Amino acid sequence: SYPGKAHMFILCTLMLEIFVPAVSTGSSAGTPVFVPTGGDLNLDVLDADFPKTFDFFLWKFKTETVMVTFQPNGEPNIREEYRGRIEVSEKKYSVRLKHLTKGDSGTYVARVTAGKDLILAEYDVTVQDPVSPVDLISDSVFNNSTCNVTAACTTPESSISSSFRCDAKTCYQEGGRSEVNTSGGSLRIYLSAESIICNHSNQVSWLKNETNLRSFCPKIAGELNMEQLYKTLHFSKIIPPQDV
Ligand SMILES: *[C@@H]1O[C@H](CO)[C@@H](O)[C@H](O)[C@H]1NC(C)=O
Ligand SMILES: *[C@@H]1O[C@H](CO)[C@@H](O)[C@H](O)[C@H]1NC(C)=O
Ligand SMILES: *[C@@H]1O[C@H](CO)[C@@H](O)[C@H](O)[C@H]1NC(C)=O
Ligand SMILES: *[C@@H]1O[C@H](CO)[C@@H](O)[C@H](O)[C@H]1NC(C)=O
Ligand SMILES: *[C@@H]1O[C@H](CO)[C@@H](O)[C@H](O)[C@H]1NC(C)=O
Ligand SMILES: *[C@@H]1O[C@H](CO)[C@@H](O)[C@H](O)[C@H]1NC(C)=O
Repeated sequence: SYPGKAHMFILCTLMLEIFVPAVSTGSSAGTPVFVPTGGDLNLDVLDADFPKTFDFFLWKFKTETVMVTFQPNGEPNIREEYRGRIEVSEKKYSVRLKHLTKGDSGTYVARVTAGKDLILAEYDVTVQDPVSPVDLISDSVFNNSTCNVTAACTTPESSISSSFRCDAKTCYQEGGRSEVNTSGGSLRIYLSAESIICNHSNQVSWLKNETNLRSFCPKIAGELNMEQLYKTLHFSKIIPPQDV
């Protein structure tokens, strides 16, 4: 009889919803699914898993929120708060939840009532922002026919660096940390052919930044004989060696 109290209770429930961690790691048996912020989530259930007859079927979020119910004839009833966000798919009883935000992270369960309740599908969903771009800064020192390059990969959250060395023949990664984990992702630095590559990745996206190592070690070219120089720089098609 105290409407104020009722409001208070609802408010508290909402607050709890916001502050309780969205993902309960390890405690659930659902299929892990990662969705980029703003992306869509397909909640699929196999027709073959249904009992021959049942009373009704529903999709639930976080055990307490019913999203949509289905009659045995396939007639859906989308709950108010999910209207406009749920699309019923051609596949019977499967749905698509659109435009996910981080608040949509959590467990989704497909439940059918046929005398007793049966769980037909369970998904542990994590909504993640795509990774930010990564800066690649490098600096080189040339000494005694070898070129030393120090490179750093930097994101707003973390940074790693590594050193590389080139002699006349080859380039290789010398040392330094080559991988760090950020919250839910990782940042890696490595050598591929003669390029230094920074790779910033998480479960939903990755971005790289790349630089040619040889461009930092121009003096190496001077140490090579001309044939090696042409091979190294791939100039042979532009200036035939016999013209030198
Ligand atoms: C790579 O890093 C450089 C240096 O910080 C930056 O200017 C450039 O925009 C980055 N490129 C990409 C593709 O992120
Ligand atoms: C290259 O860098 C490494 C690590 O910084 C250093 O130990 C080494 O002496 C350097 N070599 C040259 C030739 O500068
Ligand atoms: C160049 O390398 C030699 C050893 O290979 C080292 O003694 C010397 O300090 C290095 N010079 C510079 C400027 O790094
Ligand atoms: C320069 O490098 C060569 C082989 O790479 C080595 O034999 C020579 O001792 C080095 N010179 C110095 C001053 O470190
Ligand atoms: C760090 O990243 C690597 C590779 O992406 C992964 O195998 C490892 O489990 C991650 N560690 C943590 C603590 O997230
Ligand atoms: C970057 O890392 C992601 C995740 O590990 C991987 O899928 C992708 O192929 C990598 N890209 C490059 C260019 O290394």
